[in-house]
Amino acid sequence: MKEIRKISSRDTFLVRHPILRAGKPMESCQFDGDDIDTTAHFGLFIDKNLIGVISVFKNNNAIFKSENQFQIRGMAILNHFQRKGFGIELVKHSEEYVKSQFGKLIWFNARESAVPFYEKLGYIKIGEPFSIADIGIHYIMKKKLANAYE
Ligand SMILES: CC(C)(COP(=O)(O)OP(=O)(O)OC[C@H]1O[C@@H](n2cnc3c(N)ncnc32)[C@H](O)[C@@H]1OP(=O)(O)O)[C@@H](O)C(=O)NCCC(=O)NCCS
Repeated sequence: MKEIRKISSRDTFLVRHPILRAGKPMESCQFDGDDIDTTAHFGLFIDKNLIGVISVFKNNNAIFKSENQFQIRGMAILNHFQRKGFGIELVKHSEEYVKSQFGKLIWFNARESAVPFYEKLGYIKIGEPFSIADIGIHYIMKKKLANAYE
């Protein structure tokens, strides 16, 4: 049985840690703003086991003109479950959530290796690649939402 539902920031660490912060201290899984009211965390469960996480932060990036922007962070699927379509399901679920919050644009810093995944979902790269310490090359990516709730 498969289910996507809201989870706590602490629960995201179960997937953030092995996939995004492997070998680093557990505290490195905590992001600024994880526990504020406008932040939402979603988990994808297979047979009650958490196998994927995504977090959505209400956060405007000054390089974009849109109001009410949201940032995706901490997108991760456990190794054994990657390339089975679960990542796409979590991003689409987050897009519906952002639309429900009247969000106009989603952006994020994408790892270079994940760029083709996000391009498949209609996100586009903005500007030049840049390096994030200890993690690697990233691109800013964005998508304007066709807002179903306007
Ligand atoms: C990137 C990630 C979130 C994608 O989730 P996923 O469940 O594996 O991806 P999906 O199965 O939904 O992908 C659907 C499509 O996206 C593309 N895609 C996914 N991962 C890809 C990769 N690493 N390289 C190239 N294309 C990729 C493919 O077109 C794929 O379809 P296909 O398998 O039929 O070729 C996941 O692989 C992951 O957690 N990776 C490690 C952590 C990470 O990089 N997180 C993103 C940080 S910005």
